Amino acid sequence: MKAIILSGGKGTRLRPLTYTGAKQLVPVANKPILWYGIESIVAAGITEIGIIISPETGEEVKAKTGDGEQFGAKITYILQDKPAGLAHAVKIAQPFLQDAPFVMYLGDNLVQSDLDLFIEQFKSSHLDALTLLCPVANPSAFGVATVDEQGRLLQLIEKPKNPPSNLALVGIYIFSPIIHHAINSIQPSARGELEITDAIQALIDQQKAVEARQIRGWWLDTGKKDDLLEANRVILDTCLQSQNQGQVDERSQIIGRVQIGTGSTITNCTIRGPVTIGQNCHLENCFVGPYSSIADQVRLVDVDLEHSVILQGAKVEGIHHRIVDSVIGQRAYVKEAPRRPKALRFMIGDDCQIELN
Ligand code: TTP
Repeated sequence: MKAIILSGGKGTRLRPLTYTGAKQLVPVANKPILWYGIESIVAAGITEIGIIISPETGEEVKAKTGDGEQFGAKITYILQDKPAGLAHAVKIAQPFLQDAPFVMYLGDNLVQSDLDLFIEQFKSSHLDALTLLCPVANPSAFGVATVDEQGRLLQLIEKPKNPPSNLALVGIYIFSPIIHHAINSIQPSARGELEITDAIQALIDQQKAVEARQIRGWWLDTGKKDDLLEANRVILDTCLQSQNQGQVDERSQIIGRVQIGTGSTITNCTIRGPVTIGQNCHLENCFVGPYSSIADQVRLVDVDLEHSVILQGAKVEGIHHRIVDSVIGQRAYVKEAPRRPKALRFMIGDDCQIELN
């Protein structure tokens, strides 16, 4: 069995972070979202992985992720020249996939469930397609499935106004090579994309063996800022282990589960976990509260923050208010003005959100 991970697309919902970088490389608990998918696929015993990339962000994905050696996998990059839909991505991956059954994994997904059991069921029941589902509170925002008691998939509807169930498609599918024929038989949808849901519906209409299973545990969509913060909270809560490879001075206090990377210095700070701090960071006179992730080369001086994600190379200095529920982009610089500023000076990129309370 092989796997493809879709890491192209536009990433409009995570702008401005995705103007300068791939959405799948945005870190959750200091690890790119994409890598969680790779690790999950490798853990299920699949080592031949194709990653779909776009012309805009493909080089960055390649440079960061490499040939797969660090994951124990062999990664092949497949360029999709435009984001023409999930089924289009499968179409261009066909020369890589050939006649192998495969897992299709959306690169912006975070799922707790192991894949082994589903792969086993796919194989033992000789299925043509298996889609993974998760019950959600707001099904209208997702692709929704209707399933019978035996787990057979009856119907898929994209973002229905009146959802027939609360079971959303999580973006992980297992297919036999017959899916390539179904994709060749469909036309682009109203939004101009080749939809994987249309291809699966074609299999259902042809009475092929199409089933669905519910995943256990959490499924996190990282599409928007609050989703990203929530994903960060859940991963720090469930996966973080204490490890200190940095230098912490005697005036600092480290409480709870805190990870500190090599080359990082912590001076006169209180860090209350779960918190992860990357490599070569400098934190001085700071309070860093629970559910914060600080990427590599970040500088924080005189800062009080919690439940926030600070991306690589950002600098935050002299902020005398608590920073909460915030995402600060790569290389951003935030510095407080004097107590009663005469003027505020900004250089703020498109689509940024600044709240001065
Ligand atoms: P989506 O979230 O459906 O699309 P998007 O990345 O364009 O995001 P946004 O809604 O924020 O604009 O895509 C799901 C995943 O599939 C994501 O990792 C991007 C990837 N993808 C491709 O690789 N090729 C495609 O043609 C499309 C549509 C998505």
